[in-house]
Amino acid sequence: EIRHMMSFVERFRAKASKARQAQSRLKALERMEHIAPAHVDSPFEFSFLPPQKLPRPLLTLEKQQAGYGERVVLDSVSMTITPGSRIALLGRNGAGKSTLMKLLAGELPALAGKRTEARDLDIGYFAQHQLEQLAVDESPLAHLKRLGGAAALRATEQELRSFLGGFGFSGDRVFEPVGPFSGGEKARLVLALVIYLRPNLLLLDEPTNHLDLEMRLALAVALQDYEAAVVLVSHDRHLLRAVADELFLVDQGRATPFDGDLDDYARWFTAREQKETEALPTSAGVGTEDRKQRKREEAQRRNRLSPLKNEVAKTEATIARLEQERAAIEQELASPEIYGAAAKDRLRSLLESQTRVKRQIETAEAAWVAANERLEAALGE
Ligand SMILES: Nc1ncnc2c1ncn2[C@@H]1O[C@H](COP(=O)(O)OP(=O)(O)OP(=O)(O)O)[C@@H](O)[C@H]1O
Ligand SMILES: [Mg+2]
Repeated sequence: EIRHMMSFVERFRAKASKARQAQSRLKALERMEHIAPAHVDSPFEFSFLPPQKLPRPLLTLEKQQAGYGERVVLDSVSMTITPGSRIALLGRNGAGKSTLMKLLAGELPALAGKRTEARDLDIGYFAQHQLEQLAVDESPLAHLKRLGGAAALRATEQELRSFLGGFGFSGDRVFEPVGPFSGGEKARLVLALVIYLRPNLLLLDEPTNHLDLEMRLALAVALQDYEAAVVLVSHDRHLLRAVADELFLVDQGRATPFDGDLDDYARWFTAREQKETEALPTSAGVGTEDRKQRKREEAQRRNRLSPLKNEVAKTEATIARLEQERAAIEQELASPEIYGAAAKDRLRSLLESQTRVKRQIETAEAAWVAANERLEAALGE
């Protein structure tokens, strides 16, 4: 299993250096090298089958306008998506990320502008609301048979069950109605259904909200190797780091390439929030009482958020410290002397520390994800 992960890492590294991949993705990969061995017991393992066709470009939007009825949410959106595109959409709550995803998916007709689709464009769209579209009285296997297209009709039941097994559905679970399944299980099933169809453009709108850490990792790993295009909206910085090469910022009705990395975005985000707060007291027409009230609310919000932000920063620092510790241990383990008879005790203690640190990293990762989720939830309020 470790060998599998490592060979994946090697393959990806070779490909990445050829294909002028963004630095951040290589960083994510280095991170994954650390996490992967800690997750070899992951119950999930799947990969994307290569898409049937990879036309270039897949989809072009030119000066498109999108919205709902009278309300224009996005204006003049231009985007070109080609096989291998790895785009993350960033933006504040309500900025229009999901609207842009619906526009890309062709679910929301544009109010203006031009859309050009490759003839063989094949979109896989994962959206939150799709969880509700599962048939409550149908099993995972029945869903796959019904929605899996020609490939599912050709496949044997054993093949379908083994595919579902990669998403954590095994034994009798594949025959049980999905109604009482947890949100996480439903999300996994929807993801499996989307992936089974081998789309060449994969649209993922907050796929991780219901996915646990193991599944997020499996998804990040599977996406590395995927040749098609991916557009992703996620609050999961880990997934963003692991997947995105190109960042788009959705703000004030525009979607524009973001010039910077995720840390720059975090700074942009803070500055943007601050600007908004400062703008409040001076805005015309707002009475003194209102202003005081708003200031109070804003202060309350900050008070509420700051421990959550601290928690995220703290867990990040913990991970960094542990990874340093681990690197030091592994460096010592790499020296030939440590395997000599004289160093036997030292070797044993090093191996023990290595196991301990690995476990601690795993725990810290989980804590980091949990802290992020709490922060995102609070930001969304
Ligand atoms: N079906 C709809 N009808 C009318 N307005 C809508 C509809 N869906 C979204 N909106 C509005 O469009 C704007 C953009 O919403 P959208 O869901 O695209 O934002 P978002 O960036 O995805 O936000 P979030 O981060 O909360 O998911 C919001 O002001 C929202 O209220
Ligand atoms: Mg959204």
